[in-house]
Amino acid sequence: MKIQAPPGMRDFYPADMRLQNWLFDAWRRVSRSFGFSEYDGPIFEFLDLFTIKSGDEIVSQLFDFEDRGGRRFAIRPEMTPTLARMVAARANSLPRPIKWFSIPRMCRAEKPQRGRLREFYQWNADILGVDDVLADAEIIAVAVAFLREVGLTPEDVVVKLSSRPIATAVLASIGIEASQADRAFQLIDRYDKLGPNEFRRQWNEAYGPDVPGERLERYLTEASLEQCLDLVAAAGEQGVAARTQFESLLAHLESFGVMPFCKFDLRIVRGLGYYTGPVFEVFGRRSELRAVLGGGRYDDLTTMLDGPRVPGVGFGMGDAPMMELLKELGKLPELEEELDIFIIDADPQLFATVQELAAALRGHGLATDFSYKRVGVSKQFKQASARGARYALVVGSEYVERRELTVKNLERGEQIIVPADDLLRAPQEALQRV
Ligand code: HAM
Repeated sequence: MKIQAPPGMRDFYPADMRLQNWLFDAWRRVSRSFGFSEYDGPIFEFLDLFTIKSGDEIVSQLFDFEDRGGRRFAIRPEMTPTLARMVAARANSLPRPIKWFSIPRMCRAEKPQRGRLREFYQWNADILGVDDVLADAEIIAVAVAFLREVGLTPEDVVVKLSSRPIATAVLASIGIEASQADRAFQLIDRYDKLGPNEFRRQWNEAYGPDVPGERLERYLTEASLEQCLDLVAAAGEQGVAARTQFESLLAHLESFGVMPFCKFDLRIVRGLGYYTGPVFEVFGRRSELRAVLGGGRYDDLTTMLDGPRVPGVGFGMGDAPMMELLKELGKLPELEEELDIFIIDADPQLFATVQELAAALRGHGLATDFSYKRVGVSKQFKQASARGARYALVVGSEYVERRELTVKNLERGEQIIVPADDLLRAPQEALQRV
């Protein structure tokens, strides 16, 4: 019986793994450059952690199971509830601000499609314990720093930005109270996916014909930032606060130099249930792919988990959609296998020396290999190139006569003779000579 990988799950062959590590390295580099520390949590959690506030869509996509003791668990579909649980557990002892990142592997029972899988990795960066939109702006700056790091420009990608309080105030202006807003948020979140007709149908089903869905639709599709902010400010004290907060966020984004990537879009409300402040998603400008990143501010998640209040803001970026976007834009690097040295014997009698040298060079931390078969020198050189080796080391008659080795720089095609003792004492230095 032939068994394949389950649908929506991936095998990572070495070539795939090289790209994956390239992406992870960039994620880690950028996170650290902003002063974030890495953390991780368990691959599955008690089911309740996700049903409390993640929102219906994600709950319907859980892979859950029961252990032998009848306890219900779910493989993590996102990281934020785990993060909130971990922070809440040590809220009093963790130094603030809490700037943490993680690259968890997670599962969602989605219908697999390009860039959306059932198992994926998601870069998470979050700042907790800061009540100021300065943290929101910095989180967006982290995301933009990564986009720049992999060679993307404002012509390639856009950070679409809005805020829950702004959306709440716009809804209030058409008579929808905050307590009834959840369904409206879901519909707004799915506006582009549903299309105008289906949106109208579902809107009428949810709110009846008296609530003017067309007015909201006009705001969703046509209104400028200024028009939305004016409307919001007219919606009383909370609206004025929402406007001031958003303007302050924009000012910080300007100072961080990331405004060219950002665009206000009232349609961004986010599907997850816990967001309370600014929300944002990143899209390819000319791409059909869904968002490559989503995030926002969540001030009440730790309280929902019965912990002390620790406000937070952060984002998740999926590996699969990001890789698809980079492929579309021709921005994926070509990565060869990386081997420092391939040792070649000019005479099969010298193979024991090849093995001794390999052991010594590996001990110096150099990636070193050799041919398992005793074949001719030119075949061994071919193997060296096929393995992506930077240097070939030839053990031949000069080794027998004078303990010298030929070192060839395979990138430049040049070679020199080096005393074996020099090479074994300080190999990096000896290699740099050629
Ligand atoms: P999310 O919008 O559910 O947010 O996911 C964030 C990103 O994860 C998406 O924009 C996409 O890049 C990636 N993603 C989601 N589902 C899949 C999938 N099935 N396959 C591949 N990639 C996927 C969250 O998860 C929030 N917890 C993010 C967050 C962190 N908010 C605050 N902090």
